[in-house]
Amino acid sequence: MRRGVLIFTLITVVILGSAVHSVWTLLSLLVVDGSEDAISRAELPAPNSGAINDRPRLIPKIIHQTYVNESIPQHWQGPQKSCIDLHPDYEYKLWTDKKAREFIAAEYPWFLETFDGYTYPIQRADSIRYFVLHHFGGIYIDLDDGCNRSLDPLLAYPAWVRRTTPTGISNDAMGAVPRHPFFLKAIDSLPEYNRRWILPYITVMASTGPLYLSIIWRHYNSANPQGDDRVRILFPDEYNNHPWSFFTHHLGNSWHSNDVKLIFWMAQHWVLLTFIGFTVGFSLLFCIYSFCLRQRQGNTKGRFSYSRIPFYRRISQKDIELDHRHEV
Ligand SMILES: *[C@@H]1O[C@H](CO)[C@@H](O)[C@H](O)[C@H]1NC(C)=O
Repeated sequence: MRRGVLIFTLITVVILGSAVHSVWTLLSLLVVDGSEDAISRAELPAPNSGAINDRPRLIPKIIHQTYVNESIPQHWQGPQKSCIDLHPDYEYKLWTDKKAREFIAAEYPWFLETFDGYTYPIQRADSIRYFVLHHFGGIYIDLDDGCNRSLDPLLAYPAWVRRTTPTGISNDAMGAVPRHPFFLKAIDSLPEYNRRWILPYITVMASTGPLYLSIIWRHYNSANPQGDDRVRILFPDEYNNHPWSFFTHHLGNSWHSNDVKLIFWMAQHWVLLTFIGFTVGFSLLFCIYSFCLRQRQGNTKGRFSYSRIPFYRRISQKDIELDHRHEV
């Protein structure tokens, strides 16, 4: 009896252990918030301060955006114009589908097959931004983000991204010098993460989107980059909704489908769902265990038999001898 319990517990621990191990990076995203790399408001000059000009300018003055073609929809023309108008001395690059593909074919031909193979166009829109930042450097901005003030102060950091809620970092506005090791890792890892999941939203998030970038960011930081190689993090207070923030946000996510609503609902109720998951899991294990117990009592009338416990077969001395004889 005791041996049965021990083996049963061991199996449970191994299963739970490997489950936790396989989602370890994801779990760590729940507790790691990037605050040690935060760009604090104290170090950012006020919007019209002369101190902006005293800061180093490491990131080249280029703004990158992406869209299917040159005809930007009306509701994004406002945000687009706000960024162009605030940065007259920046080069502006709009990466249309055609230009993006030509660029990958010319500069990163090893990636072309993966790039062409993506099921969802948004995966190409996600991945192209890591490549242009790696190649040219500059600042990438999503079309639904407008600019609220000049981004010049952010040119002082070799690489920065935005923190997102509830967890991880986002890929909707990012800046970097050319060939920054973080974006090198982000482009190098794309083929490996090109997997399909049941829900399209998860496939997009985990293969090229913010979740992908957050996981790469965690792996990158585990390798302990020092100084300029660290990725600095812009927090919501510094990026949105205040007079001093850099960006304004404009809703325009027309591609949100039912699976996205499901995911948002799941994110809001993750505590409840985790609880249900554990309850169901343990109930199942308990059922299996009591089934084994009943079988044992029924079949053997008080004698020990572990034959019904999963993965475990008791072999008597006689069986072993028989087995050995068969092998001879
Ligand atoms: C640009 O793409 C949009 C969205 O797919 C499409 O409706 C529009 O016709 C395209 N414009 C041109 C000039 O090809």
